[in-house]
Amino acid sequence: MKNFNYKNPTEIIFGEGRIKEVGERLKPHAKKVLLTYGRESIKKNGVYDTVVESLRANGIEFVEFSGIRPNPYLSHAKLGADLARKEGVDAVLAVGGGSVLDESKAIALGACYDCDLWDFFSGKASPQKSLKVFTILTVPATGSEMNGGMVLTNEDTLDKFGFASPFTYPVFSILDPSVTLSLPVSYVACAAVDIFTHATEAYFVKEDTASFVIDRAVEGVLKSLIESTDKILQNPQDIDARANFMWTATLAWNGSLHCGVGIYGVPNHVIEHPISAIYDIAHGAGLAIVLPAWMKVFEEKYRSRFAFLARNVFGVDEIDDHKAAQKGRESLIKWFKTLGAPVSFAEAGIFDVDVEKLSSLAMGVMGSKGVALMTQDEIKKVLEVAIK
Ligand SMILES: [Fe+2]
Repeated sequence: MKNFNYKNPTEIIFGEGRIKEVGERLKPHAKKVLLTYGRESIKKNGVYDTVVESLRANGIEFVEFSGIRPNPYLSHAKLGADLARKEGVDAVLAVGGGSVLDESKAIALGACYDCDLWDFFSGKASPQKSLKVFTILTVPATGSEMNGGMVLTNEDTLDKFGFASPFTYPVFSILDPSVTLSLPVSYVACAAVDIFTHATEAYFVKEDTASFVIDRAVEGVLKSLIESTDKILQNPQDIDARANFMWTATLAWNGSLHCGVGIYGVPNHVIEHPISAIYDIAHGAGLAIVLPAWMKVFEEKYRSRFAFLARNVFGVDEIDDHKAAQKGRESLIKWFKTLGAPVSFAEAGIFDVDVEKLSSLAMGVMGSKGVALMTQDEIKKVLEVAIK
């Protein structure tokens, strides 16, 4: 294993009925918050009413900032930061899925600075402070509830960049699996693909292959993901399956699966970000398109790692690494299809694939993340394999 430091300061408040605790728990931290959310879903599932009631009961003032969209835009985050400054809030309370949480972190940073918020995403500047962030998660997928990361799209350039700061870890995140019972199966499918990719990016490409404690942990997370997803598809009201799925999503991207692995990249996220930025599809759908194609193009380079996945997660009984890797990829595609996720651009209804532009934007994403694992030609190959 490589040397590592690991610190995750986020408190997780997990379980049915825990959202009503928000006001009481916020009290020591903030007198006035910016309450951020997406569109109408939190009003339909009762979360909004529970939150507002709890804030009022505990004397916490709030200003609302809504309309955060999937694949959130930089310009909208800037509006939120302006409002947070104007209203003099102490903190941001984000209620929603990964997009709401990500944009809310950007708002919390932007509220503390006069510079262009994008400078943090492009790596031109590094934030040294932020408003405190608190979250109530309603769509498990991105892991944003227990990390300092965020992804935004700059709609002027179509760059979809992510970055992480130690200042934007949520102080606490409330995870109530009962609010996910109303999430449509199509959301669960996209989330499952995203979680799968979070858990496997470093597993495939990590520098250190002797950190087997992490390998076994990743494989456990993946098995739990597959088991809980399949149970939700069979019975969307299965609260235990929803709870396991929710915590699996958090574990996949809270940094614990990256301890001791050394240098790693996120090649599938690098290729996917421009796809969801340009075609405005769900991030998970974009990853379902990319991952099987990436595994095909990089089969030789990461063969032994793909064979591990095949044997230890999909139960492939095959001694030869090449054959095991192929069977593992086939098992993955089969599972994605069971979920209803598109495994090609064509299946997603995208027929005007601009390989040149997508690969060029992906190079920009990779540059912003600093780990160059692929050439532009290799990215083009992945995109070409993914067309049909
Ligand atoms: Fe992701």
